[in-house]
Amino acid sequence: MKIAIATDHAGIELKEALVKHLENKSYEVLDLGPFTPESSDYPDFSEKVTSSILRNKAKRGILICGTGIGMSIAANRHPGIRAAVACNATYAELARAHNDANILCLGARFISEIDAIKCVDVFLETPFNGGRHAQRVKKLG
Ligand code: RB5
Repeated sequence: MKIAIATDHAGIELKEALVKHLENKSYEVLDLGPFTPESSDYPDFSEKVTSSILRNKAKRGILICGTGIGMSIAANRHPGIRAAVACNATYAELARAHNDANILCLGARFISEIDAIKCVDVFLETPFNGGRHAQRVKKLG
């Protein structure tokens, strides 16, 4: 499965750790930056991941900023994108099982590397439950 990942300046270190983790698990990773620590604007990097998903260049995305909130707001402006902020593995699991989320947003300033890795693993391994959740997701457009 191909995973697109990007951050703003707040998540550079976490992004590096997650890229290594994903590559170790043999995921194909599309690292969309940034690659230097200068201040950057989260909508610019959100856009890179959302367009890679909408153009079928990646199946899932991971977006990191200080809180995860800015990235989720930016990503969810696009129909077909369901971006969910998760602060623990249960949130990540339910974002997949109930909401069929295709992007996981993480707040680098509020989550440890270990918990972020747990969120990523659960997010990538949990299938959508469908059923009653499918009719709700359909209404999101
Ligand atoms: C950057 O300082 C911070 O505002 C950004 O990473 C993010 O948390 C916005 O939602």
